[in-house]
Amino acid sequence: MTRYRVAVVGLGIGAMHLKGWREVADRFEVVAIVDQDAARLTAVGTEYGVADRYQSLDPVLARADIDIIDIATPPALHQPMIEAALKAGKHAICEKPLLPSLKAFDQVEALLASTGRQLMPVFQYRFGNGFKRLHALMAAGLAGKPYLASIETAWTRGADYYAVPWRGKKATEWGGALITHAIHAHDALEWLMGPIASVRAATTTRVNPIETEDCAGVVVELESGAIATLTVTLGAAEEVSRLKFHFSGLTVESNLQPYKFGFDPWRFIARTAEAQAAVDQVVQAVEPGLEGYPGQFLAFADALDHGQPPPVTVADARRSIALLTAIYRSARTGETVRLPIPAGAPDYGGWL
Ligand SMILES: NC(=O)c1ccc[n+]([C@@H]2O[C@H](COP(=O)([O-])OP(=O)(O)OC[C@H]3O[C@@H](n4cnc5c(N)ncnc54)[C@H](O)[C@@H]3O)[C@@H](O)[C@H]2O)c1
Repeated sequence: MTRYRVAVVGLGIGAMHLKGWREVADRFEVVAIVDQDAARLTAVGTEYGVADRYQSLDPVLARADIDIIDIATPPALHQPMIEAALKAGKHAICEKPLLPSLKAFDQVEALLASTGRQLMPVFQYRFGNGFKRLHALMAAGLAGKPYLASIETAWTRGADYYAVPWRGKKATEWGGALITHAIHAHDALEWLMGPIASVRAATTTRVNPIETEDCAGVVVELESGAIATLTVTLGAAEEVSRLKFHFSGLTVESNLQPYKFGFDPWRFIARTAEAQAAVDQVVQAVEPGLEGYPGQFLAFADALDHGQPPPVTVADARRSIALLTAIYRSARTGETVRLPIPAGAPDYGGWL
């Protein structure tokens, strides 16, 4: 078992990564942190006991003793920092939204193939015991045919949040509540219910004086024929995330905690007492695992040890950006947009 050496770049949410890395310290050691903000660098370095602190990425890339660059900078820096890390022979982990377009995915995928390094997008919400139990039910054949999903992200953001200059602007955030906040909940849709066939969307900005959307409604048709609705606001008086999936075999509801919706407890409701007993047996047999960031990081260590793809793949992140490409086009044009979006289609190079 290798103990991998990590450098974390960007210490906003990156500080939460450090908390996550600390929970899997037997598999990883954070040996360096990077932030252009000197005060943040000192505060986070002191809190987490990281002595090697840098204000730019280049000297970290030159260090032969670092295996993984963990990127948690604002979106516009993701592609250049991923590419620099891969070219320097490092594995990379990067926060959502990974890349701004399907074309950018083509570029990064070509670099991954030529460098042989790994890139793991962050979707830490996938690492929750509710999702783990639902996957066990699906593997046991107890979920059945997908009928309908309703995914609600009702969060609250105000002026203090938008005081950070890159947020709320199309050029630097690439979009609003859909790409920055609801991306995690929406990622669950294809993961659990299969490929998307088409999207109809409406977006608006009503909560804050920003360029990007802060309310949205989307109707999704899946290739299976199932339907989903995605609703998003950043103007909720009470913050809730609610994921509800109806299958022929059962109805599933997440817990309502906005930032821990994947965690226990979830409700798994069958149609008869007999079916419920079978469902309960599978649900109770699932061994709870580490959740959130440490859960994703731990699964990455196992994948690296065994030379396997990361637990969240570039293809997963690509699907989330394909969905956003379709949503933003539909919201702009009023059209129903079909997926997959082929190379050369409108917006393949990005919706901005
Ligand atoms: N997965 C999640 O749940 C989650 C939560 C919050 C944010 N995010 C994502 O993480 C990313 C960062 O968001 P945030 O809220 O932490 O932003 P932030 O602005 O709070 O923090 C970003 C940090 O990066 C630093 N930085 C900027 N440019 C740099 C450079 N060239 N070199 C070194 N450091 C640099 C800034 O000084 C800042 O400290 C975004 O993509 C965001 O969408 C993900």
